[in-house]
Amino acid sequence: MKVIAIANQKGGVGKTTTSVNLGAALAELGKSVIVMDMDPQANSTSALDFTPGDHPSVYQHLMDRNSHIGELLLDTKYENLHLIPCDMDLAGCEIELAKEDDHLVRLRELIQEYKQTDPADYLLMDCPPSLGVVMTSSLAAADELLVPLQCEYFGMEGLSKIVDVHRQICESGANPDVRLEGIVMTMADHRTNLSTLVINDVRSVFPDITYQTVVPRNIRLGEAPSYGQSILEYDPTCAGAVAYRNLAKEFLERRTPQEVH
Ligand SMILES: Nc1ncnc2c1ncn2[C@@H]1O[C@H](COP(=O)(O)OP(=O)(O)OP(=O)(O)O)[C@@H](O)[C@H]1O
Ligand SMILES: [Mg+2]
Repeated sequence: MKVIAIANQKGGVGKTTTSVNLGAALAELGKSVIVMDMDPQANSTSALDFTPGDHPSVYQHLMDRNSHIGELLLDTKYENLHLIPCDMDLAGCEIELAKEDDHLVRLRELIQEYKQTDPADYLLMDCPPSLGVVMTSSLAAADELLVPLQCEYFGMEGLSKIVDVHRQICESGANPDVRLEGIVMTMADHRTNLSTLVINDVRSVFPDITYQTVVPRNIRLGEAPSYGQSILEYDPTCAGAVAYRNLAKEFLERRTPQEVH
């Protein structure tokens, strides 16, 4: 199982939309996927049609050393797609966790243990929009980092911060191997030059890891979560659904052959 943190400390850039819909598109391609909601806003929990607070969340497990992450797993209505939910408690957990000496590696240890059971192909962590304990713990637990970046001027500034955090996590020893897997440009508006300029800028700085697939601004992507549906169910032929299907294909094409088969 590969663990991928979908992270950007900037709010509203498409982390949750990408976690849910990349997850759904990979599941549609036959991969077994877990979306792990690491954000107390619990947006990916509700987008996958669960009520935050109805089920134990990853937070309780972070505080209880004798627990196993697998006990939290919920089957979504989509084949191959599972959820580890979140609720508001994670906000309090952030404070509690910060008091513990091992806070940075605790999630990593829980996930390492879970990996031994070979539960899924991919675990996508929907990270919160801050540089707090939860996000750094997620990066410390991840094999790879996928950064959604909004196609706007300030997107680049946010990117350099996350590249710094990535470097710090590597240098801290908490997780020297976490790889910056990719950057996915979101909310592109092809009618404006700004989107094109920002995409070109990001591609010139990170030519190898920026996804060719660009997620357009698409109102259907904004509507789907309020129906508890992935975009593939809500409007399977809209531009947003096409983009996330393409993103899933590109994601798999980049993997090593051993991992994909
Ligand atoms: N490509 C898109 N086109 C139109 N709307 C989008 C697109 N992607 C996301 N949205 C909408 O924009 C808002 C922010 O997206 P999302 O929740 O995925 O971002 P986020 O990075 O997870 O935010 P947060 O930092 O608050 O967790 C949501 O209302 C979402 O439905
Ligand atoms: Mg979110």
